[in-house]
This record gives sequence, C-alpha cells and structure tokens, in this order.
Amino acid sequence: MLLAVCGGIAAYKSAELVRLLRKRGAEVRVVMTQAAQEFVKPLTFQALSGNPVHIDLLDMDEENAMGHINLARWADMMVIAPATANTIAKCAHGLADDLVSALFLASTCPVYMAPAMNQAMWGKAVTQENIQRLVSQGVQFIGPDAGDQACGESGYGRMAEPAGICLHLLSDENAALKPGILQSINVVVTAGPTREYLDPVRYLTNRSSGKMGYAVAQAARQAGANVTLISGPVALTPPEGVKVINVETAAHMYDAVMEHINNAGIFIASAAVADYSPDAAEAQKIKKKDGQINLLLQKTKDILAEVAALEEAPFLVGFAAETTELEAYALAKLNAKKLDMIAANWVGRTEGGFDSDQNALDVYWQSGRKSMPLMPKSVLASQLIELIAMRFHEKNRIKNTG
Ligand code: PMT
Repeated sequence: MLLAVCGGIAAYKSAELVRLLRKRGAEVRVVMTQAAQEFVKPLTFQALSGNPVHIDLLDMDEENAMGHINLARWADMMVIAPATANTIAKCAHGLADDLVSALFLASTCPVYMAPAMNQAMWGKAVTQENIQRLVSQGVQFIGPDAGDQACGESGYGRMAEPAGICLHLLSDENAALKPGILQSINVVVTAGPTREYLDPVRYLTNRSSGKMGYAVAQAARQAGANVTLISGPVALTPPEGVKVINVETAAHMYDAVMEHINNAGIFIASAAVADYSPDAAEAQKIKKKDGQINLLLQKTKDILAEVAALEEAPFLVGFAAETTELEAYALAKLNAKKLDMIAANWVGRTEGGFDSDQNALDVYWQSGRKSMPLMPKSVLASQLIELIAMRFHEKNRIKNTG
C-alpha cells in the first residue's frame, strides 16, 4: 500500500492510518509532499511503517534515479490521505511536479483519495469538477466528513476517520480491492419521472431529470455489473454498456421492472414514480370550461414494495425524497418497504435534489448509516455503489455462512 500524505492539518491522522493498516497486515510505504512535512516529520511515518519515507521526485539513492516509477510499479494500491485541493487539482490535470502527483500519474493500481480541506474549498465548483474528472477515470473517494474544522469553520471537508478509511480499504471481502466490486451481478435501476396522462396532450409529472439514476447506473456498470436501466422520459444520453428500457407511465415502469427483476441481484429504485395517476385518461383533449375541474386520481402500484414482496427478492435499495423530516420519513420507508438500504435526499432546496448536477445523500440500513456530502451526482453515485456493494456482499456472506 502506497500512502501519499499531503500538506494539511489532517496529516497527523495519517499516522494512525499507517498503524491501523499495518495491524491488518498491509505493507505500507509512505511518500510525503513538502507541505506535509511542515505538519508531521517523515521520521514519524518511517517509525510507524517500518520503511524509509520518500519525499524527493528524483531519488539519488535509487541507482537509476527512477524511484518514483519503481514505487508506482511496486504498489498494489495507492491512497492519498489527506488529499488536499491542490493535489487533487494537480492529479486531475496530469501535473507531475512533485513526488505525489508524479506517482499518481505513473500508477496503474487502484487509487483512493481521502480529501481534507476547508469547507469553502471543498464546495468550490472547480474542486468539484476536478473530483468529477478523477472519478470518471476510476479514482475512488473516501469522505470527506462534516463537522468542525481546524480553521474554525464548520461543514464538509474533514478527512474521514482513519478507522473508516482502513475499513473501506481492507473490508472483509476486500470488496474495495477488486476492480469489479459488482462483477457480473445483475443490477436493475429505475430512473427519472413518470408521466400520468389526463388526456392525449396533458400529463401529471414531477421535476426528476434522471441524472441521479443515470449516474447510479453508470457507477454500477463501472463496478462490473450487468445493468438494466428502466427510465422514465428524460433528456440524457444513456450510459455506455447499460441496457436501457424506456417507459412513460408508472404502470409501464411497473411492468418493465417485473419483466426484468427475475435474475437481479440488486434493485435500486431511484425513479420518482408518480404516487397517483388519473383514474382514466380521457380519449380526447379535455375542453376548457368555466369554473373548476375535478381530477379523480388512483394510487399507483408501489414498484419497490411489490419487488420487496417477491419470494426471491433481490437486495433492495430505495430512495427517499423529502422536503421535511428526512431521517424520520426515510427510516419509516426503510422499514415499511422492508428494504436493505435507503438513500435519502432533500428536495425543493436551492442545492441538490431534483435536476441539479449535485446532490447529498444520507444512507440508512438496519445497523448503520452514512452521510455523503454535496458533490457531483457521478461522484456520489460511485460512493453509493461502493457502499451498496459492501452491504450486498456482507448480506450474502452472512446468508452463506448461516
Ligand atoms: O432525477 P434527478 O433530477 O437527478 O433527481 C434525483 C431524485 C431526487 C429523483 C432521486 O435522488 C430520488 O430521491 N428518487 C426517489 C424519488 C421518490 O419518488 O421518492 P419517494 O420518497 O416518493 O419514494 C420512495 C421510494 O419508493 C423510491 O425509491 C421510489 O422509486 C419508490 N417508489 C415510489 C412510488 C411508487 N409508486 N413506486 C416506487 O417504486
């Protein structure tokens, strides 16, 4: 394991990370940026890792002065923690003017980054764009967490705790170590809104753009899954390698899900399915009259609940979109619909939710929860898929060992 430490106050936490990784049997070599050495001395990491610490891009002790290439070849996994906004930006743009960024560029192994920075720096569009770019190239992000920061501000940007990072990297099934954490698993994802027709020209719908669901489908595909995406009407290009089934109404979506759910290992319901549909659509355009018009609406079938009721139900991940009491409603849905996990998001606010390119999720399952801060939906989706994969493998492990 190659651990790259950058210059941030969270660098002290990386010392604990080395200790935990070694305790779990990993061989750790540490590299540091110049700025990191202002916070923690290389000797600390040398003592904890049991290996010399590398700080120079061109290492004269290496016979061919190509120490960085040798280190990159040696690593089975590279972890940048803390990953500062500066190093993230350098990596996103292929700069290689110090040992850490050069190693990133030379690496062919899986790379993880645990960001740590001031909350405003984390929220800045350019940082989020850099992260999105790295995620699309396969880099996996762990955290950041929210809370009080060393600078006196509060918000997202604290480095994830070492124990959490360690668990993530060396989970029981080593799920995160494998290139395809959902290799060959059949995953069905619903996305987008539905349209419930009043007459041939009018329908009831909602503000879902499908961006979240499409990002989830893409992340599942990147994790090696065979993905079927059942999509309401959206204006998005389907992710490559994903089977897309286009539907319009809640009833169509129900039929399509039921047709494709048989061999699914995981069902992720991110669509904003209409809860009500006109009792009967008029065959002809409804004519304008004076005064009011009454609409008689019938409840639609709850697709997620119907899938949960199947004899051999897949691993079930629901979404909850709320404008108040997010946690309480999400937990109620988790239990009422007998889900394995639920990803809850605020909607109707200025940031995240419907149509936005960014979102934040609070994910709940029976024995735990995880908050994922506001970030591009593509990044969020890959973090969500990693979490789903871990819970899915854990559930199967328990089932198989009785
Ligand atoms: O599409 P975007 O613009 O990117 O926005 C993303 C999103 C906000 C739509 C998405 O993140 C989200 O929250 N999707 C779920 C929206 C929703 O319908 O939530 P709900 O709380 O009303 O429903 C709970 C769950 O039941 C959802 O998983 C939903 O897909 C499912 N459901 C609901 C009704 C129904 N008839 N059938 C269902 O399967």
